[in-house]
Amino acid sequence: MKLLLWVHLIAGLYGGTAGNRSCPDLIIDSCSCTSERSKGPGRQIIRIKVACSHGELLETLQSSLLPNQTVTLILSNNKISLLKNGSFFGLRSLERLDLKNNLISNIEPGALYGLPELKRLDLSNNRIGCLSPEIFTGLTSLTKLNLSGNIFSTLPLGLFIELSALKVLHFSTESLMCDCNLRWLLQWARNSSVRIADETVCVYPSALQGRPFKTLKENQLSCDGPLELPLFQMIPSRQQVVFHGDRLPFMCTATENGTICLDKDGTALLLGVREIE
Ligand SMILES: *[C@@H]1O[C@H](CO)[C@@H](O)[C@H](O)[C@H]1NC(C)=O
Ligand SMILES: *[C@@H]1O[C@H](CO)[C@@H](O)[C@H](O)[C@H]1NC(C)=O
Ligand SMILES: *[C@@H]1O[C@H](CO)[C@@H](O)[C@H](O)[C@H]1NC(C)=O
Ligand SMILES: *[C@@H]1O[C@H](CO)[C@@H](O)[C@H](O)[C@H]1NC(C)=O
Ligand SMILES: *[C@@H]1O[C@H](CO)[C@@H](O)[C@H](O)[C@H]1NC(C)=O
Ligand SMILES: *[C@@H]1O[C@H](CO)[C@@H](O)[C@H](O)[C@H]1NC(C)=O
Repeated sequence: MKLLLWVHLIAGLYGGTAGNRSCPDLIIDSCSCTSERSKGPGRQIIRIKVACSHGELLETLQSSLLPNQTVTLILSNNKISLLKNGSFFGLRSLERLDLKNNLISNIEPGALYGLPELKRLDLSNNRIGCLSPEIFTGLTSLTKLNLSGNIFSTLPLGLFIELSALKVLHFSTESLMCDCNLRWLLQWARNSSVRIADETVCVYPSALQGRPFKTLKENQLSCDGPLELPLFQMIPSRQQVVFHGDRLPFMCTATENGTICLDKDGTALLLGVREIE
């Protein structure tokens, strides 16, 4: 009897049972749930980490299944392709969200809504072609954002306007086009003392290939040179027919002129496009 009690106690200290106590509603094999009491004066505050990495998740976890004291949520290395509006709603204590190495191509406006404490967001190594400022609405505590390893070649004016606390930004891609369309980003980073990571280097035009973005001068970001075309996979294909009223939030398509993002009415929303003279 005594022995059995000890076994239970030990099992409770390590692994499974502790996880189940903190995350009673979460019954997914690839997920682990650990909790700790915060150090310092607020010792009674419980900080929970939920990690569901290297699973086969096709969607984010329903946030109602997670305890609202979840501080860290790791969903990296899964097969998530869409971030729906309100995906993380209710996780008011969340400080770190890791979504790297998924298949995310669509992020609905409001997908990251309701995360006032979020400090670190990793969206790297996904298939994001288009981003809009609405995606980042309400992320007023965000200090680190990683967008590297996606498929965009440019970023639209004012994209980070909502991110008033941002300190570090990564956005290296295989088709990053350092031209006049990114001049705003250089100015904005300087004005708001945001550090652009060294690894964020230009790919096009060839004259600037390999140059860290942050070392450029504004006059180097020009659209006067010959047009060089980033060739990248089109998602979805250019042949796709889109009817008015179809649900295609922030679909992205690559044309010979650059990246065009379409809203759900099929109207061009964000352009990284240059006129050919
Ligand atoms: C809960 O406990 C069961 C049995 O010990 C275990 O199989 C399961 O993985 C645990 N769930 C979590 C989220 O830890
Ligand atoms: C978490 O939920 C409980 C009730 O389920 C509530 O009392 C508490 O205030 C919530 N905490 C936060 C940080 O929202
Ligand atoms: C997201 O969903 C909420 C609640 O369903 C709704 O009120 C809001 O308008 C939606 N936001 C967007 C941008 O669609
Ligand atoms: C950002 O993402 C890229 C690609 O996954 C990775 O190489 C880099 O280390 C990341 N940076 C940080 C600070 O996490
Ligand atoms: C940066 O600051 C300068 C001077 O205060 C201002 O003229 C410019 O519009 C700002 N640029 C951006 C992108 O915020
Ligand atoms: C590319 O730009 C040219 C000139 O602006 C325009 O005539 C052409 O239709 C564009 N091509 C595509 C596929 O958008």
